[in-house]
Amino acid sequence: MTAKIRIAPSVLSADFANLASELEEVEAADFIHMDVMDGHFVPNLTFGPDFIRAAKHATTVPLDVHLMVDNPDESVDWYLDAGADMVTVHVEAARHLDRLIHHIQDRGAKAGVVLNPATPVCLIEDVIDIVDCVMLMSVNPGFGGQSFIENTIAKLERLRALCRDHGVDPLIEVDGGISGKTIGRVVAAGANLLVAGSAVFGAKDRAGAIADLRACAEAGLR
Ligand code: DX5
Ligand code: ZN
Repeated sequence: MTAKIRIAPSVLSADFANLASELEEVEAADFIHMDVMDGHFVPNLTFGPDFIRAAKHATTVPLDVHLMVDNPDESVDWYLDAGADMVTVHVEAARHLDRLIHHIQDRGAKAGVVLNPATPVCLIEDVIDIVDCVMLMSVNPGFGGQSFIENTIAKLERLRALCRDHGVDPLIEVDGGISGKTIGRVVAAGANLLVAGSAVFGAKDRAGAIADLRACAEAGLR
């Protein structure tokens, strides 16, 4: 497993009216996490490709676009055209997951698959060899600021076992309820890309919040 820890602040908790300055404050991040919600797949509605294009112009940090939409097969090109560097698609929403992963990669972006809290790891057994990233939702998707679901730790262990069996080393991303209190255990269980919305944008000093998360993650790895 890759030991390098990557932090991805989620703009869901940022001030949308000041996107450029918000992004400037998180330049120390490894990815910017962009939560696209369609009001159908999840009970909330956020933004579409134009907002992603605006973010792309405002930062050099790679964009990690999390598609919480019912029709990722049909709409993925909008986000690739807008400048997504990585697109993660829910296995519960994709119709032809293998084709979708290859399509994202053929367009030059990294492709990730996402599992909701109630979706078992075994569902990705037949795509684990080709994905760049697997993301586990550690909250039910739709909102920032929810509590971390503890079962994610056991699920990470099952995911690591699957990766070991297949001899692959994708990014292991966890999304939801990540804070200084939870990040240590999550990285100890094998995650190496951590989404943090309220823990970063809820803090006054965003760079300091990212540094604190990195320090807590390092402590968890020791
Ligand atoms: C939830 C989103 C998350 C959210 C995380 O559906 O996918 O990315 O922004 O927010 P926190 O870190 O506050 O739990
Ligand atoms: Zn997300």
